[in-house]
Amino acid sequence: MITYDQERPFDSALVETLLDVAFGPDRFAKSSYSLRENVPALRHLSWVARADDRLVGTVRFWPIYIQDMILGTKESAILLGPLAVAPDMQKYGIGAELMKRAVARANSAGHQRILLVGDHDYYSRFGFEHVLPRYITMPGGKDARRLLVRQPATLPSLPAVGKIVSVAPDADAVEAARAGALPTAA
Ligand SMILES: CC(C)(COP(=O)(O)OP(=O)(O)OC[C@H]1O[C@@H](n2cnc3c(N)ncnc32)[C@H](O)[C@@H]1OP(=O)(O)O)[C@@H](O)C(=O)NCCC(=O)NCCS
Repeated sequence: MITYDQERPFDSALVETLLDVAFGPDRFAKSSYSLRENVPALRHLSWVARADDRLVGTVRFWPIYIQDMILGTKESAILLGPLAVAPDMQKYGIGAELMKRAVARANSAGHQRILLVGDHDYYSRFGFEHVLPRYITMPGGKDARRLLVRQPATLPSLPAVGKIVSVAPDADAVEAARAGALPTAA
């Protein structure tokens, strides 16, 4: 039987092992990883799936800022991911269940602006749409075409030209993430 729980501190090592298997050793080169350096995951929003005692699925969130390159303002948002299911447990609906729970909990915690980098073919079923034609890039100027945003609330509030930046220089935002609160706009 598959069960779903909020991620606990003692799950961290197992989650990392699962991510190694699901994404391979190059995962740290992804544009999203620089947003996670020195910033804790929003654990109160993050879920794990277990098959008996084995951890077989994970979905996490990180706080981010979206910087408006025209107005110079910064707004807070959350980045969904990574999402991963153990290879031998894929295609049984675990990914879908993690996504539904993750989005529902994020919404009920007051987060309306939810973004992710991923395949539209998979994530559109959970209400995610391309950020394009708004041109918003991940760190390194990457992933504008794979940046998706959860609808319906979010898209109109995004900048026409923007970039996703880490909250890490903002000690208050990092502390807020650790405490499970919304980071404030800078
Ligand atoms: C993506 C992932 C989390 C889905 O988990 P899952 O438990 O298999 O998901 P579900 O059972 O809910 O859905 C499976 C369906 O999604 C499809 N799917 C999986 N990845 C997809 C993708 N990248 N694009 C389009 N469809 C995808 C499967 O083909 C399957 O389709 P089917 O129902 O028609 O057979 C899992 O495949 C995984 O961990 N992949 C490796 C890590 C990864 O790529 N994570 C996502 C980062 S963008």
